[in-house]
Amino acid sequence: MRTQVGIVGGGPAGLLLSHLLHLQGIESVILEIRSREELESEIRAGVLEQGTVDLLMETGVGDRMRDEGAVHHGVNLQFSGRRERIDFADLTGKAITLYGQHEVVKDLVHARLDAGGQVLFGAEGIELRDLDSDEPKVRFRKDGEEHALACDFVAGTDGFHGVSREAIPERVRTGYERRYPFGWFGILVEGPPSTEELIYAFHDRGFALVSTRSPEIQRLYFQCDPEEEVTNWPDEKIWSEMHARLDTDDGWTVEEGRIVQKDIVQMRSFVTEPMQYGRLFLAGDAAHIVPPTGAKGMNLAVADVRVLAHGLEEFYGSGRTTLLERYSKICLRRVWKASRFSWWMTSMLHRFAGDNDFQYRMQVAELDYVTGSRAAATSLAENYVGLPMEEFAAEEQRSAREGVR
Ligand code: DHB
Repeated sequence: MRTQVGIVGGGPAGLLLSHLLHLQGIESVILEIRSREELESEIRAGVLEQGTVDLLMETGVGDRMRDEGAVHHGVNLQFSGRRERIDFADLTGKAITLYGQHEVVKDLVHARLDAGGQVLFGAEGIELRDLDSDEPKVRFRKDGEEHALACDFVAGTDGFHGVSREAIPERVRTGYERRYPFGWFGILVEGPPSTEELIYAFHDRGFALVSTRSPEIQRLYFQCDPEEEVTNWPDEKIWSEMHARLDTDDGWTVEEGRIVQKDIVQMRSFVTEPMQYGRLFLAGDAAHIVPPTGAKGMNLAVADVRVLAHGLEEFYGSGRTTLLERYSKICLRRVWKASRFSWWMTSMLHRFAGDNDFQYRMQVAELDYVTGSRAAATSLAENYVGLPMEEFAAEEQRSAREGVR
């Protein structure tokens, strides 16, 4: 079996890469360990940056997102009994779209299969070989048979627990990590929305977030012990905690509904450097993890594969490797900035065990500043809606100039 780009992992990063390559006439094969059903039902975050939305629209996979997603022009920060709005439209001229990651995945799977793309579900025992040669290979097992996929390049888009990152020799990679001493207890609720726009609440009892998936399905979270078990939380206890952290004195109260799913999200920041080794390019969670606060995860994956697709396009169009050689450097600048933003939002909005009242008052003062100063609010807003892809554009131009010389 042979293809141009072997893609290990069929999440948003792998699927979008395959789609972008297809639009440029470049062949790829996606190997995904899960079944299509498992892949399409995995609930993750649901906030798309403006740049992510634009890319999905421009490349023809955004129709359902446009029809079913909800455009939000701001978010609310709640603290000390006050609720203050950050107005993205006014501060940045941009917006975010609420549309679940698994919906993006469904749209991309559909587009790939419709175009005759190869997405091999249930591919197990994946091993990457000869990454430092011109013909890397991916070995895998499917339906009990062993296969080897020979390719020009391998994209490692198999998430944090995948095999791709570990295929880079330890001596040439460095991991940078920060674990947070709490998790998020997440619920999916059938019922009407409590609020038009997201509410990020900093409360004495800990953080809480009101988000949405559709007019009928709401997504709520509250900060919990990282060792917590969902079985310890019957519905009544969850609602009582939500009300305690979210309800306000003016009579606003979080709308209850039927809880249809409960899960616990772990909180970690992680970046591996470099994101490339030989002919292997890591993208998305395989290379970096952000805590969910600010919902940067999938947006970063999209930004990575956009750079990678341009680099591969340059290679297949002209034989030049200028952009591919800069892939890691270009991506990491954005990755670190998004990591900083996610870490900052997380630090500002959570209660850390062992923190004293001084720290609590610092957090309140920071929220007061962020919501009261136009400069500070703009800083939050421009990161939230997504930093521009400027460094990528600049690198691309430099690469084009060098090509002419
Ligand atoms: C959601 C998740 C986030 O991490 C966030 O900051 C906002 C919304 C969500 O799942 O809807």
